Amino acid sequence: MNSNSSSQTKPPSREGFSTNLGVIAATLGSAVGLGNIWKFPYMTGENGGAAFIFVYLICVFLCGLPVMISELIIGRTTHANAVGAFKKLAPKQPWYMIGVSGALCAFLIMAYYSCVSGWVFSYIFKAASGALTTTDPTKTTEVFTQATSTIWSPLFWQWLILFLTGSIIVMGVSKGIERITKTLMPILFVLLLICDIRALTLPGASEGLKFLFNPDFSKITGGVILAALGLSFFKLSVGMGTMTTYGSYFRDDQNIPSTAFKVMISDTVVSMMAGMAIFPAVFAYGVKADVGPSLLFITIPTVFSSMPLGTFFMILFFLLSSLATVGAMISLIEVPVAYLSEELKLTRTKAAILTVVAIALVGSTATLSSSVLKDTLIAGRNFFDTYSFLTDNILMPVGGLFITIFIAWKWGKENILEKGSNYGQLDNTSLLTNFYHIVKFVTPIAIILVLLSGFGVF
Ligand code: PFF
Repeated sequence: MNSNSSSQTKPPSREGFSTNLGVIAATLGSAVGLGNIWKFPYMTGENGGAAFIFVYLICVFLCGLPVMISELIIGRTTHANAVGAFKKLAPKQPWYMIGVSGALCAFLIMAYYSCVSGWVFSYIFKAASGALTTTDPTKTTEVFTQATSTIWSPLFWQWLILFLTGSIIVMGVSKGIERITKTLMPILFVLLLICDIRALTLPGASEGLKFLFNPDFSKITGGVILAALGLSFFKLSVGMGTMTTYGSYFRDDQNIPSTAFKVMISDTVVSMMAGMAIFPAVFAYGVKADVGPSLLFITIPTVFSSMPLGTFFMILFFLLSSLATVGAMISLIEVPVAYLSEELKLTRTKAAILTVVAIALVGSTATLSSSVLKDTLIAGRNFFDTYSFLTDNILMPVGGLFITIFIAWKWGKENILEKGSNYGQLDNTSLLTNFYHIVKFVTPIAIILVLLSGFGVF
């Protein structure tokens, strides 16, 4: 029995998720987002389809999922924010820097995520107005340029989204985060299913399925593997304190390995469903799949416009994409909010206002990277790309690396077995023993190798 356990009991005043379904909805709500509907499809399109998905799934099993379980256990054991958790488990030692870098990472992701989310929300209205109902890519490019490279319109959408998500945070963990994600997740699933049925029943849809399921391994390089690793972290919201923070709201009887597994599987299903709504349609109309980030904003509208009832499905698609971003954004904002309110003793409302205003300021530089700040570059990248590069390729993998080092090498097997089994209430010793060996050796070595090869060291 660890000496920390007596100091790790939950303070009575701390709010948490109230039901098992709520835990799954909130955690899945964090995982599902632009990652599934924007990043996963365009990265799959660019990097060889099924082969990339195969590498991505390996990264999920060996790195993303183990880090997710680690974070949830650390959060639930301490019932503290991402920084406070490490302070409790390793007092007066620098491990809490994992939490600090996590909060910074969540903040920087939000800076550009809220910008893209703003574009997606604005696209619901553009689709409804008929502005996107065209099969001519030069026209959809024009609409996208107009939506992103003016000053006030994209800023308006970004700030509006920040205001909305900030308001959900102020409502609280159970009444805000849990309630909203419990409502949004089923809606999202149904809308995606409708889009899938539409795309899969188009003549020529099978080419798109082949692309998703027939691997072409010639496109896999060190850089592609690093991208897949970054995506697996981004997808499962790990490596930046989000799952530590959400784990801190888990009930003491929650089965963590099983919850993490269910969330991972459901999240992968959503990504595949998004792929199946996009690629069959892309191939059915003979459009190129490897166009990169503009896939969602330039290619998709032309593809949807080509199909019967296209405008209607386009509105549904952008609506579901917008809803998907909400659960992810609340979980990102919650990391600094929990930190500020618990470590600096601010009220939840003050912490939320401070966080949202700071994200709006920094996030505006990401949004303006398509207009007035286009030529302001840091090491050759504009603000938007800098935030994305720093978080995807450095902060998230390195955060994940240190979390596994902490849990396996510092905290140790005994603690993992004790806390992961809810103090012996669950019969999962052999599962946790395997988990321990994976986080001790496989995950850190895989992350280090992938980081080194991604940076061209070998
Ligand atoms: N998992 C989210 C997505 O795939 O869109 C993004 C995300 C949410 C990343 C929360 C990180 C995070 F902490």
